[in-house]
Amino acid sequence: MEKTRVVVRETVLEAGEAIRRKFGKRVEIDFKGAIDLVTEVDRRSEEIIVSALRKAFPRDDVLAEEGGSRRGGGSDRIWLVDPLDGTTNFAHGYPFISISVALEAAGEIRYGVVYDPLRDEYFEAEKGGGSSLNGRPIRVSEADDLRACLFSTGFPYDIQEHPEGHMEPLVRILMASQGIRRDGSAALDLCYVACGRFDGFYERKLAPWDTAAGVRIVEEAGGKVTSFGGGAYSIHDKEILATNGRIHEAAVKILTA
Ligand code: IPD
Ligand code: CA
Ligand code: CA
Repeated sequence: MEKTRVVVRETVLEAGEAIRRKFGKRVEIDFKGAIDLVTEVDRRSEEIIVSALRKAFPRDDVLAEEGGSRRGGGSDRIWLVDPLDGTTNFAHGYPFISISVALEAAGEIRYGVVYDPLRDEYFEAEKGGGSSLNGRPIRVSEADDLRACLFSTGFPYDIQEHPEGHMEPLVRILMASQGIRRDGSAALDLCYVACGRFDGFYERKLAPWDTAAGVRIVEEAGGKVTSFGGGAYSIHDKEILATNGRIHEAAVKILTA
């Protein structure tokens, strides 16, 4: 695992530096959908990370958001890479972005890293080994009353074609909690649950590379991750609820009301 930690750290910090250098500057933007952007910086970051993983672990598969995926050589391991989570934020110079890298082995997320290159915050977790922020252990919050809880959420890029099902949970959580944020990087939202800045996070239609690392980081920090209905969560599911655990049942009730 030590080699894994070192390789991931080096490549994520390098990609983070490439992102930081371009933050707030004019960059080339393409459209994957009406409101779904990709920039030259997403692609550059992905190139840096995927080539480092390929070199260090040639037998592993890699699934990366911008198409830099590779088949390995028969291992049961797959790397899930979001080279820039928060592309819309990045394109607007809104400082809430991250890089997410996770390792799945035999169908289980074993290791995850989420890095915020603007705050230099490095979240890391290994299955069974706890979660840390810049090397220091982190824990979820202890809030047990929804009215004292800060939530976060997000919306998918197809919301203008398919608005159904997004507003009801938003209104219900808003009315039951202390507040709700839409900060624009699901991977970082999950880490904020892990370190107690948020008490809960929910979203629909996320992709495996958005949640894989963050889920490991929340669970190792003592939090709970399920579907909206409280069932076991898989990174291929279309809905996720992550909380500090104490408010989980109450949040499930609100989301499924
Ligand atoms: C997006 C962010 C956002 C979430 C979107 C994601 P991207 O990822 O995580 O917070 O609401 O659904 O697609 O496109 O910036 O990598
Ligand atoms: Ca993403
Ligand atoms: Ca992305």
